[in-house]
Amino acid sequence: MTYSGTPNNNDLSEYTAMNDVKQLIHTVPKAELHMHIEGSLEPEMMFQLAQRNGIALPYADVDAIRKAYQFDCLQDFLDVYYQGMSVLVNEPDFYDLTWAYLQRCKAQNVVHTEIFFDPQGHTERGIAFDTVIRGISRALADGQSELGISSHLILCFLRHLDQRSAQETLDQAEPYLHLIAGVGLDSSEVGHPPSKFTEVFDRAGGLGLKRVAHAGEEGPPEYVWEALDLLHIDRIDHGNRSLEDRTLVRRIAESGIALTVCPLSNLRLAVVPDLARHPIREMLNAGLKATVNSDDPAYFGGYVNENYNALVDALNLSQREIIELVINGFEASFLDDARKQQHIQAVRGCA
Ligand code: ADE
Ligand code: ZN
Repeated sequence: MTYSGTPNNNDLSEYTAMNDVKQLIHTVPKAELHMHIEGSLEPEMMFQLAQRNGIALPYADVDAIRKAYQFDCLQDFLDVYYQGMSVLVNEPDFYDLTWAYLQRCKAQNVVHTEIFFDPQGHTERGIAFDTVIRGISRALADGQSELGISSHLILCFLRHLDQRSAQETLDQAEPYLHLIAGVGLDSSEVGHPPSKFTEVFDRAGGLGLKRVAHAGEEGPPEYVWEALDLLHIDRIDHGNRSLEDRTLVRRIAESGIALTVCPLSNLRLAVVPDLARHPIREMLNAGLKATVNSDDPAYFGGYVNENYNALVDALNLSQREIIELVINGFEASFLDDARKQQHIQAVRGCA
């Protein structure tokens, strides 16, 4: 909300209410369910790691990097994202990246996080799977013991690569299944439907892994149907375009399957023209279990709280809607029921 001149009483009470909601957003314990760890690489760390590893970046400085973060679509972003992750080489790089994200979680009262990683983004350039997972999981263990933040790790397959490469990645993951909660599907959506990955998702399910997939971010509702019916997913990442198909909306609502929605990502990748037209309220009103997440916070202008705050600014979400979204985050998590209930009680205590 912006002011010109002296606010009248109505403006003031609206302003106070909005500040109360933002205070609630800050203090309430939250879960994050959709965050690519490589997408939390802040420009400052990108420069430090480039120097540490002797890698040349095509940017003069941190400001030049930030200026380059103008995207017209998902592919525009992915080109920059894959280039950015090239500074991650050794185990301590993956540790430092993950630890920095966990400190953001601590500062924003995120008490549980489910983190994606893109092993093929590293193995394709000669970094061992082992190096990646050891660095990330060591930081996650420290996050639990030193910061009290619980976490799960989700291995994403890059959908622009073929199923054979995904199978090889799952082979590499097998010795580390005790560190991995689930598999996901990300990268360039259009032209790479979920049906391309049926077998590897079946195999992951057989190994006891949870299954999630990006679907309906840029791709059509048919991709969401495929993710549900062919990949047997436990959660839909994004899912915005599900709203174009009423039968699909009913199916998702009745199944209770959650959507991990990423408002600032949707804005920066032109999935929505402007946040005032973001469909999150429509999702809640349709009975969908929507959650709020940051996707790639270093690239899209904010972590979880900035995403909630941006929704409040654009849509004037109420305290009740915020609490519903936060509770959805815990309900849709892969925590056990007892832990979910503990967190939900703590959330209700903040209302
Ligand atoms: N990888 C990282 N962020 C992504 C997004 N928003 N969509 C698909 N793949 C991604
Ligand atoms: Zn994502």
